[in-house]
Amino acid sequence: MSRTATLTLDGKTIELPVFEGSEGEVGIDITQLRAQTGAIAYDPAFGNTGACKSAITFIDGDKGILRYRGIPIEQFVDSPNFIEVAQLLINGKLPAQEELVRFRARLTANAHVHEGMRHHFEGFPPEAPPMAILSAMINALFCYDPHFSVESDEEFEDAAASLLSKVRTIAAYTYRKSNGLPFMYPDPNLRYCGNFLHMMFSMPYERYEVAPEVEEALNLILILHADHEQNCSTSTVRVVGSSRANLFASVSAGVCALWGPLHGGANVAVMEMLDQIHRGGLAPEQCIKMAKDKSSGFKLMGFGHRVYKNFDPRARVLKDSCDKVLAKLGKKDPLLDIARKLEELALNDPYFVDRKLYPNVDFYSGIILRAMGIPLNMFTVMFAIGRMPGWIAQWKEQHDDSSVRIARPRQIYTGNKLTDYVPLAKRK
Ligand code: SDX
Repeated sequence: MSRTATLTLDGKTIELPVFEGSEGEVGIDITQLRAQTGAIAYDPAFGNTGACKSAITFIDGDKGILRYRGIPIEQFVDSPNFIEVAQLLINGKLPAQEELVRFRARLTANAHVHEGMRHHFEGFPPEAPPMAILSAMINALFCYDPHFSVESDEEFEDAAASLLSKVRTIAAYTYRKSNGLPFMYPDPNLRYCGNFLHMMFSMPYERYEVAPEVEEALNLILILHADHEQNCSTSTVRVVGSSRANLFASVSAGVCALWGPLHGGANVAVMEMLDQIHRGGLAPEQCIKMAKDKSSGFKLMGFGHRVYKNFDPRARVLKDSCDKVLAKLGKKDPLLDIARKLEELALNDPYFVDRKLYPNVDFYSGIILRAMGIPLNMFTVMFAIGRMPGWIAQWKEQHDDSSVRIARPRQIYTGNKLTDYVPLAKRK
């Protein structure tokens, strides 16, 4: 017999279908709730709402588990290859050798941006935030390819490769623009991460030699950010895509959602917090005290998560990697010691313990990005480059599902009852 949940409202009882995901999570199907009872489900911030069924990423927040298409993220740590992970997420399986080669060729063929787009870059003031430029330029990509189609597998692969490849070029150009540096064209002989570093740091008169340690660290960072099921930015991509908006427009909206300090922008906020402590403006103990005081409006940045009530497994990997990457690059960073100190204080404080607040992905990632020479205002852009495969995969999964309807939440209206219009002359 199929399982149901029973709901009684105003004396009327209805049965709601219950279903399970492949890892045993239970969902109560309330799609007929309003039709059968006249009531709606009220769940601001969607903490109890499943907006879709998805086969891409699995998280068990209580156990601290994260898997891409079933594979634990820890298994990508020793041989990081962001492009394989991107193909895994987008296509549902790891690529065979010839599929990887074909996809790489597509990335290379699509690495440039239209020369006309240079004029768009010119229009931004020098201090324009890189996330604003990134979002605008991803949206603008559509203007240069308005007839692109994603209907066949072949066309979709091309669109996905184009977006993955161009976002890296746009991101690097954003940095070059903000520093008044000449744009460097992509180099077809370099791999994904190496090419990005080249476009960021080479000069026309001096080529940047991509150190294998830096390339490897970047690969790892991008992999760890590649997807995270229905987070704020991915949900934004899906909501925008549900109106049948094109892939570029949907992803461009995702970039804007990611920008906020409670989401991807936290990687900048963490470094600012650590730096303030380092400069003596704030003691770690004071920082913890402020985070516990609701009236301060201050949060311990890089801590807490809607889903993880345990360590974010990405934070574990990144914490371990900090030491390795810094050692390989021959660097020391006092901010790492401060981060460790804050973590220790928080994990021994009843406020954080009771609320199950642990370090999230943004707590340690900045230390690695900084060691690689990535400037602070590009940190959230790096998150966006990493998240691109996830956004593309989630957009595609929704696009291919013919049962998907436009996303349209309802509300509980709390405003005036019927009120008459008062002409201006009669208003008090
Ligand atoms: C990302 O969703 C994703 O998957 C996102 C992400 C991804 O890969 O896409 O993982 C990436 O966005 C990571 C999160 C980055 N943000 C931060 O580091 C900012 C600091 N963190 C918090 O603001 C907060 O923890 C959030 C925004 C991450 C989650 O917010 P929730 O889900 O609304 O928090 P909660 O309901 O679990 O909070 C429970 C309690 C509350 O206190 P009480 O009202 O119960 O007394 O914990 C408190 C919160 O006020 N709390 C914090 C805190 N985080 C939660 N208190 C102090 N400092 C914090 N960081």
